Amino acid sequence: ENDVLSKLPLKGKKLLLTAGPTYEAIDPVRFIGNHSSGKMGFAIAKAAANLGAEVYLISGPSHQQIQHSLVHRIDVVSAEDMYKAAHTYFKEVDIAILSAAVADYKPKNIATQKIKKTTSALEIELAPTKDILASLGEIKKNQFLVGFALETNNELANAKEKLKRKNLDAIVLNSLQDKGAGFATDTNKITIIDKDLNEKTFELKSKVEVAKDIINEIIRKIS
Ligand code: CTP
Ligand code: CA
Repeated sequence: ENDVLSKLPLKGKKLLLTAGPTYEAIDPVRFIGNHSSGKMGFAIAKAAANLGAEVYLISGPSHQQIQHSLVHRIDVVSAEDMYKAAHTYFKEVDIAILSAAVADYKPKNIATQKIKKTTSALEIELAPTKDILASLGEIKKNQFLVGFALETNNELANAKEKLKRKNLDAIVLNSLQDKGAGFATDTNKITIIDKDLNEKTFELKSKVEVAKDIINEIIRKIS
């Protein structure tokens, strides 16, 4: 095997990544968001770039920073922004990994002025956002498409259902059952399921190490 190639197995490959939360505006000063830090997605971006991939990192609001000549960061706010950015780059890439915690719902109408408080209850009507991952699954050609799944119950069955329904090549299941895995932590415990429903479970480890595992699995599956 060629030495240089085995050291940079993703050289010449392009990777689309989504990371972080999305913020869905309620009015000019308020939004609906979630606790995603973006750590997992940024770690994957770095792991892939370190192996030679050119990375388009579409990030929702996140304090994470990344400095790598092969990583192009595209900052977005809402699910709709992220959808548009993902579709802009998807046709050009070889691999897409969607790790963002995209809001499932957004306020149906955004108030143009700050909503004033009253003494009565406030109802905000929510409308579904677009499923970015499913929309890429529908138009996928040769791209290797990877999703994430966050489940609290029936983990494996739910993850497999998502894999099929969204036409994915693999899905990364985040185990919330285990302490030290999930949103706010530096560690994660994952199972990767491929489209033939093979499962591979990894130990609890740092998100930096988990990112390397995910990238290595993808390299094995595309080569
Ligand atoms: N996802 C997406 N766009 C959305 C919602 C989710 O791209 N509007 C992606 C996530 O980035 C993740 C995968 O879909 O890769 C699964 O997200 P998850 O929240 O676990 O699943 P949902 O399909 O949203 O279903 P539910 O939240 O009801 O479990
Ligand atoms: Ca969801």
